[in-house]
Amino acid sequence: MSVQHDQAKGPMQDRIVVVTGGARGIGRAIVDRFTAEGATVVIGDLTDPGDPGQLEWVPLDVTDETSVIEFAQSVEAGHGGVDVLVNNAGIMAERSITEETLAEWDLTMAVNLRGPFLMAKHLIPFMEGREGASIINIGSIEGLVANRLHAAYCASKGGVHALTRSLALDLGPHGIRCNAIAPGWIDTDLNRSYVERHPDRDQVVADLERLHPIARIGDPADVAATAFWLASPDAGFVTGQVIQVEGGRTVRLSLPTTLEP
Ligand SMILES: NC(=O)c1ccc[n+]([C@@H]2O[C@H](COP(=O)([O-])OP(=O)(O)OC[C@H]3O[C@@H](n4cnc5c(N)ncnc54)[C@H](O)[C@@H]3O)[C@@H](O)[C@H]2O)c1
Repeated sequence: MSVQHDQAKGPMQDRIVVVTGGARGIGRAIVDRFTAEGATVVIGDLTDPGDPGQLEWVPLDVTDETSVIEFAQSVEAGHGGVDVLVNNAGIMAERSITEETLAEWDLTMAVNLRGPFLMAKHLIPFMEGREGASIINIGSIEGLVANRLHAAYCASKGGVHALTRSLALDLGPHGIRCNAIAPGWIDTDLNRSYVERHPDRDQVVADLERLHPIARIGDPADVAATAFWLASPDAGFVTGQVIQVEGGRTVRLSLPTTLEP
């Protein structure tokens, strides 16, 4: 049975959407897209997104259960429930496994994997019984394939994809869908530093674009569009999936440059 909504108002009118890490980057694009579609969006982030009066920000550290509980109670008190939870907050670091300290490993796991667990645990009670409720976890293509020196990040994102499938199974009977998005190279602060530190920035951008069959890197709005679709009634029969938003980058088999046609 499809979810009914007022066609004139759009599927996100009167919906309460929570976006972790919504202050900047991909999260901010998701906030902007849902807001433009008429949703009420609450940003949960360590940092202030700015734009007071336009954006609702509740300080949140997704690694800290007390902070998550206070956040959930604040959203419930202010809005009476949650329809869409986007677990987007994430961090990434480049280290060899022998250099990586236990504290660094634990921090990556805490933000990227414990965070979505805690947010789901404490917000699900406020999502149950709301028609069309869904959780969207931001994973990564690095949860499917790997970059060098990213062991903690890759492991955490593989965990996010597995958590997504588990939640889809457990929450389906409660009317809550759960899906993940696995973005590829998206132009945000998270990976801009990799481009900026190279002496020939234009060369790096050109090389990056060549990796993608569609000849460009991703924009945060590309991920936001998929998040919006996953939350909409059009995706009402979609759950437990990891949707790659990566311009086709991972479909190419690598060849030595000498053999490239
Ligand atoms: N940018 C990419 O190419 C790319 C690719 C694949 C996946 N991703 C994933 O997309 C998500 C967003 O990435 P981005 O590029 O926009 O990153 P970003 O660094 O630009 O923004 C991350 C946001 O998360 C917030 N945050 C960090 N730790 C937090 C915590 N403990 N509690 C609450 N908020 C916290 C930050 O304050 C920031 O606003 C991450 O999960 C990332 O792993 C990004």
